[in-house]
Amino acid sequence: MTLNAQGFQIFDLPETGEDVLKSFDDLAFDEYIGNGNRWRRFSQYRLEHRDGDWEFERLPHRPYVTYSKFNPIAGGIRRHYQPIEVDLVEHIREACAQIPLPEDDVWQINVHQYRVIANKELQGVVVPEGVHQDGHEFVVISVYNRAGITGAELTLRAADDKETPIFTATLPAGQAIAFDDRALWHYVTDIVPVEEEGHRDITVVSFSRWNERWYGDAFEEDAIGEGRG
Ligand SMILES: [Fe+2]
Repeated sequence: MTLNAQGFQIFDLPETGEDVLKSFDDLAFDEYIGNGNRWRRFSQYRLEHRDGDWEFERLPHRPYVTYSKFNPIAGGIRRHYQPIEVDLVEHIREACAQIPLPEDDVWQINVHQYRVIANKELQGVVVPEGVHQDGHEFVVISVYNRAGITGAELTLRAADDKETPIFTATLPAGQAIAFDDRALWHYVTDIVPVEEEGHRDITVVSFSRWNERWYGDAFEEDAIGEGRG
């Protein structure tokens, strides 16, 4: 497969082991974003295509930083998250194939693993920053579990018209969407518990070319400086 003319593609995740599914029970509370309703882990990799396959090199752990222009809620600061403990490489490999990620360049990826919960006290906000772009070249959102919830409807909008959805879908567990983050805006509605409490488990992988990487001292200073600007 490849991204369609509008710049996205839905695909099935490879078979997901119990270790991956259970790893969402062991994320760390996110004190930086959301309304106290999310847990997460974060890791970064360098990807290079060699001998017919993507080679994944896990980068030394650093804080996560994004620009305020992409995330007015928590951009421009260093957010210290715990590293991802489970092996998601085969799932990310499938995402690379679906885009397909251009093989003539080296890439840097940010991998976020989240659980968002909703109950009587906590509204199930998934995207506190609203309709947005992440600021990368490609983004892949993968859904691993929807437990006792409705909602989490994804919309995509064209870069030149932030108001009008061009695509709407509620991804079930086991499905993912890859999209061109420069061509499209994305948003996901809140989750709503069916009974007392529910949650949604996802990963988000964002792809940047190595020479535009979101990694290292120079990048962090740039993103934090912009945040102060
Ligand atoms: Fe996003």
